[in-house]
Amino acid sequence: MTVALFTLGGTISMAGRAAGSVGVVARLTGRDLTAAVPGLADLGEEIEIHDVEAMPSSSLTFAQVLEVVDAASRAVAAGARGVVVSQGTDSLEETAYLADLVWPHPEPFVVTGAMRNPTLAGPDGPANLLAAARVGRRDLGGLVVLDDEIHAARWVRKQHSTSTSTFGSRDVGALGQVIEGRVRVLVRPDRPAPLPWPDAGRLAARRVALHVVSLEDDGAQLDGLADTHDGLVVAGFGVGHVPATMAPRLGALAERIPVVLTSRTGGGSVLSHTYGAVGSEVDLLSRGLVNGGLLDPYKARVLLRLLVAAGADRAAIAEAFATRG
Ligand code: SIN
Repeated sequence: MTVALFTLGGTISMAGRAAGSVGVVARLTGRDLTAAVPGLADLGEEIEIHDVEAMPSSSLTFAQVLEVVDAASRAVAAGARGVVVSQGTDSLEETAYLADLVWPHPEPFVVTGAMRNPTLAGPDGPANLLAAARVGRRDLGGLVVLDDEIHAARWVRKQHSTSTSTFGSRDVGALGQVIEGRVRVLVRPDRPAPLPWPDAGRLAARRVALHVVSLEDDGAQLDGLADTHDGLVVAGFGVGHVPATMAPRLGALAERIPVVLTSRTGGGSVLSHTYGAVGSEVDLLSRGLVNGGLLDPYKARVLLRLLVAAGADRAAIAEAFATRG
């Protein structure tokens, strides 16, 4: 059996230093990475290496990620039993979700990375790569595998800036674990149907902003946003609240572009009919904002950008968030 490995840089591959710099940069190829993994050859899988680009994941674009998903799709169509993508962890929760939204195959699409680079004591990249390559379970869509835990791309978050156990799924927990090399899937979430493949030109032309609400925030920064953006995700307080002074601004924006309401808390759902003050979830939804449900602001932004690129109207966007949020 063949596993297709796509390498995109990140800490897992950062073993080099730029001239005159103290910081590490991505250098290692897929061949270097796989050669450093004890036990990988014993899996009996052929690892088909596709070196894409060694770059920090903070610089990745939607288009680059979709190019990898497209190439991965072709690898699966040609017989690979699964895909592993190695990349930086900074944007991994977003890229994995983007892939999950459009991945049309039962074969797993697994994203992994590392928190400790190969020049440090105890780098975690080799163990993460081995665990990711072991995961062959079908019909789970986009997955994130690090620290011997298997997470759904839809729910996983990077929760700590340096810890090797940074990835967690607060609302559902890990779907499974890799225990003594054995993959144990304990939870199988419902998986909504993949979205249609985005048109590259329309996607490039659509911009979606994210605004995190904070104390005494009147939303003045949002003035003019509908002239430059095609959608907005608001990360509100708690269950979806904003200051009363901001509520009319968001309502006016929602008349022009889709505005999705999420929570900045990192767990739990936006509510729909509990609080009634100006700026509460009831008020904002009545002004035309879309309820983002359980989707965190970053993933909501990924979904909203694909939806506006597909030309979805407000009703279709609300329906998509009701299904996926
Ligand atoms: C990156 O995301 O490219 C750097 C940080 C990391 O890989 O953990």
